[in-house]
Amino acid sequence: MRATLYATIGPAGAGKTTWRHQHAPPGATVISLDERRATLSPCGCSADPSVNAAAVESGTADTRAALAAGGTVVWDVTNYLPRLRAHLLDLAAEFDAATVGLVILPPLLTVLARNGRRDSRVCAVCGTARRVPDPVVWAMHNAITGSLPDLHREGWHTLHFLSLPPYLHHRHHGRKP
Ligand SMILES: Nc1ncnc2c1ncn2[C@@H]1O[C@H](COP(=O)(O)OP(=O)(O)OP(=O)(O)O)[C@@H](O)[C@H]1O
Ligand SMILES: [Mg+2]
Ligand SMILES: [Zn+2]
Repeated sequence: MRATLYATIGPAGAGKTTWRHQHAPPGATVISLDERRATLSPCGCSADPSVNAAAVESGTADTRAALAAGGTVVWDVTNYLPRLRAHLLDLAAEFDAATVGLVILPPLLTVLARNGRRDSRVCAVCGTARRVPDPVVWAMHNAITGSLPDLHREGWHTLHFLSLPPYLHHRHHGRKP
């Protein structure tokens, strides 16, 4: 079977990890930067910025190994910037792997409400909390929303839109009142 790379695209609190737990293909190698940072971080925090580079490096190495063996890899990350998505597309291209982008973009207020239910206590060591500051959630949501018209030109073989606000669904465009 052809090596395949799945990558979620969605802001913090969108439901990426929930989707992955329910729907990742059996046997896939899952790369979660949150989980890698938590493992590498001296304080165990999933957002610890001091171990981010190491988490990306190890996730990238494991992805290369899995794709080289013809496997399936699922990246559970926000991918909210074009350069983050380009990194994964370049990685897949090294192995001629199929790429599947999974846009998980519920309405902003839904995402903010979910994020608001998370633990807001700030770690004294690394300065992060599980709850992401609201402006950060907004910025991620805004960046992905702004990228939607161009996603199909980025090079994904397949794009799935799993959770879009109703006003962005194609079937609502151009419909007569
Ligand atoms: N379809 C859904 N309906 C209702 N609640 C959901 C749904 N998907 C996820 N949630 C809830 O939203 C919260 C955030 O989900 P999740 O942890 O999967 O987000 P995430 O995109 O992985 O966020 P992060 O980028 O911060 O890791 C969780 O409490 C989860 O139970
Ligand atoms: Mg997650
Ligand atoms: Zn910490």
